Amino acid sequence: MGQVLAVVSGKGGTGKTSLCAAIATCLAQAGKRVLAVDMDVGLRNLDLALGLAEEPSLPFTAVMRGEYPLSRATAHPDIPDLFFLTAPVTESPESVDREQFFRLLEEIRQEFDFCLLDAPAGVGAGFALCAAPADLVLVVTYSDPASLRDGARTAQLLESLSAAPAKLIVNRIKRRIFRRTSLTVDDIMDTVGLPLLGLVPEDEAVVLAAAAGVPLACYSHKGAALACRHIAFRLMGVRQPFVRL
Ligand SMILES: Nc1ncnc2c1ncn2[C@@H]1O[C@H](COP(=O)(O)OP(=O)(O)OP(=O)(O)O)[C@@H](O)[C@H]1O
Ligand SMILES: [Mg+2]
Repeated sequence: MGQVLAVVSGKGGTGKTSLCAAIATCLAQAGKRVLAVDMDVGLRNLDLALGLAEEPSLPFTAVMRGEYPLSRATAHPDIPDLFFLTAPVTESPESVDREQFFRLLEEIRQEFDFCLLDAPAGVGAGFALCAAPADLVLVVTYSDPASLRDGARTAQLLESLSAAPAKLIVNRIKRRIFRRTSLTVDDIMDTVGLPLLGLVPEDEAVVLAAAAGVPLACYSHKGAALACRHIAFRLMGVRQPFVRL
């Protein structure tokens, strides 16, 4: 039975889409059968981060309604076992039928080892649509105080939604700044109130890979790409060291 992972954040722009694509790629490269779903209804861009902008792709809502079978999900041309469904552009998260969507996730759990849902920014209907049915929620924040407070609010909201367990990914860590503040990894976990799944450094390869239309894990093997590989292994239950700060 596969696992559904929702990648969320309170504030926008924390790196959900970039990390969702990179982790999905690393899981597939590790031999897992993976489906990445763009849940950013109206503002999709996961296709770019996966290097699939030129490939035709079906919206998850069309599969959910039975217009196409799940087997028609886009197969990544370069990464075996990585599949993709996009978000519809002309619908709103509020208009997505929750029961139909939850039924689709049941089918996905039968067919895939991991399904990653790239949530939209904010804590509105799209956030709840992803978090409510997930088996694990990945909360992505930065390490500055405002972002950590935002992460803490997101964690509380997840608890009030009775969502699945959540874990924290701290993205865009700048080592030099991190070292000059007295913040520790324990402080971060205490502030947000979630266990840590990964620390991802600031890395220009994230932007360059997306610009080149190549998945991050195929573009680089260090920095953010290595951190995402470690996260993928932790999700598979393999112990990995955290990057040194
Ligand atoms: N570790 C990183 N190092 C450098 N740049 C990064 C990193 N992570 C993300 N970025 C950049 O930050 C920007 C926002 O990332 P991304 O689109 O993944 O965020 P998001 O949380 O999905 O945004 P939204 O909330 O709008 O969906 C992008 O330009 C991306 O390339
Ligand atoms: Mg996004």
